[in-house]
This record gives sequence, C-alpha cells and structure tokens, in this order.
Amino acid sequence: MKRIGLCAAAVVLAFSSAAYSEDTTYRKHIKPLFEAKCVSCHGENAAPEYHAFKEDKNKWVSNGQGMRMDTYSHLVFYTAWPDTGALMRRLDDGKATGKQGNMYQYLGSTEEERQSNLNLFKGWIGNWTLKRWKDVTKEEMDGVKVKY
Ligand code: HEC
Repeated sequence: MKRIGLCAAAVVLAFSSAAYSEDTTYRKHIKPLFEAKCVSCHGENAAPEYHAFKEDKNKWVSNGQGMRMDTYSHLVFYTAWPDTGALMRRLDDGKATGKQGNMYQYLGSTEEERQSNLNLFKGWIGNWTLKRWKDVTKEEMDGVKVKY
C-alpha cells in the first residue's frame, strides 16, 4: 500500500513539473496575443522602425499609430536591446512601482483578462525587469528568455 502511495505521488510530481516547464514561446503564445491586442497600432501600417517613428512622432501619434513591433525581431528590440525593458515598462500593471505602463490598458477589456495576458508576457520574458540598458546588469539580462 505504502509503495502504491509513493508511486502515485511520483506521478503527480512528474505531471506538475511538466506543466510548469512548458515554455512560453513567441510563436505559440505571444504572436497570437500581439495580433489580437497590439497589431492594430504596431503592425505593418505603423511606423516601420522605432527611429522612423521618433523622427516623425507627432504624425504617427496623431494617426493613432506606434512603431512597428509585429515580428519576433522587432519585439526583442523593445525587450532586450537597445530599447531594454521598454515592453516591460509599458505593459507593467504598476502594482510594485505605483506607475502603470500606458500600454497595460490594451492587454484586455477586463482586469482579469489584462492580468492573465500580462502573466503570459511575464512568462515569455522571464526576468521582468523595468530597467534601461544603462542600469540593467548582465545577470538580469541573463534572465531574459524571449523564446522563439
Ligand atoms: C490604440 C493604439 C495602440 C495599441 C492598441 C497599442 N499601442 Fe503601444 N503604442 C501606441 C503609440 C501611439 C505609441 C507611441 C506613443 C507612446 O510612447 O506612448 C506606443 C508605444 C508603445 C511602446 C513603447 C516603445 C518605446 O520604447 O518607445 C511599447 C513597448 C508598446 N507600445 C507596446 C504595446 C503592446 C505590447 C500592445 C498590446 C498589448 C500595445 N502597445 C497596444 C499605440 C498603441
């Protein structure tokens, strides 16, 4: 009896760690979410690149368009380098800092949906740091996963 109990415990453990180790990836989780919530302003009709956006910021903003972010490479630019932490700062719910990012509102129409989508982004990024390149450490960057 004792043995069976132990085996059952081992099976439960194996299953739960498998569930935890399922990686959040761009292709599986982030791309569909981005297409549902962000692409209307950050898709191919947006400013082609961050620097082009900056050069003509007023024009793009008055059209309701941001900078292009609808590919994996574009999104990594706003996560890792050179615009380190930008995605995190804009999406953060402000619970830890008191300052909510201005893109948080687009994560969903209810608080529950926003939190659940924020958690998907957090899972994808790994280490949720709000720091910029000049302040972030090598160790903190090592924790940024952004799996394709
Ligand atoms: C209604 C249009 C709209 C939607 C929807 C939208 N954004 Fe934005 N976003 C903008 C505009 C315009 C800017 C530039 C103005 C600013 O800096 O706030 C911007 C800026 C950003 C930036 C800042 C980049 C930088 O460093 O300058 C990030 C990151 C971002 N958006 C991510 C997102 C994500 C992720 C989503 C989806 C959850 C999203 N946005 C949804 C319009 C939008």
